[in-house]
Amino acid sequence: MPFKLTEEFKAKAAHICARYPRRDAALLPLLDELQKERGFVAEEAMDELAAYLELPYARVKAAVTFYTMYNRAPVGKYHLQVCRNISCHMAGAPGLLARLKEKLGVEEGGTTKDGLFTLSSVECLGACGSAPVMQVNDEYFENLTAEKLDALLDEMRHGRLKNRRT
Ligand code: FES
Repeated sequence: MPFKLTEEFKAKAAHICARYPRRDAALLPLLDELQKERGFVAEEAMDELAAYLELPYARVKAAVTFYTMYNRAPVGKYHLQVCRNISCHMAGAPGLLARLKEKLGVEEGGTTKDGLFTLSSVECLGACGSAPVMQVNDEYFENLTAEKLDALLDEMRHGRLKNRRT
């Protein structure tokens, strides 16, 4: 079934566009809204959004592919994004990433069979002072250690983490 922007989305989009002097300036906030609806931004959604904003498809696609915060395919309930840049690298991120791969049984970009976790590594999350950092959905977890990571996984597995995509 082809993707269509929902009426609810269009109502929100009109409200968001009204905040900007130019309609195309609303591109990123509208991509955020699209992602909130389904957890990812599908190719067809990019196409529809480009038409809605009267932008070339390539411009929407460029934004989605440049920013790692946009998922281009469905992700698990918890999207674990480990920062791979220098501060986090020096503070132990590679070890944390390896630990996650082993504990979850997935490689980067993979999703666990139960659909609970998707694992990614991403560029700097802008919280270098509290490296190593991992983003889970919209929340940051900073100054991570192996012990903190294990406790966090346990919370997520038992549905006790407050930050949950519902
Ligand atoms: Fe990891 Fe900046 S290097 S948050």
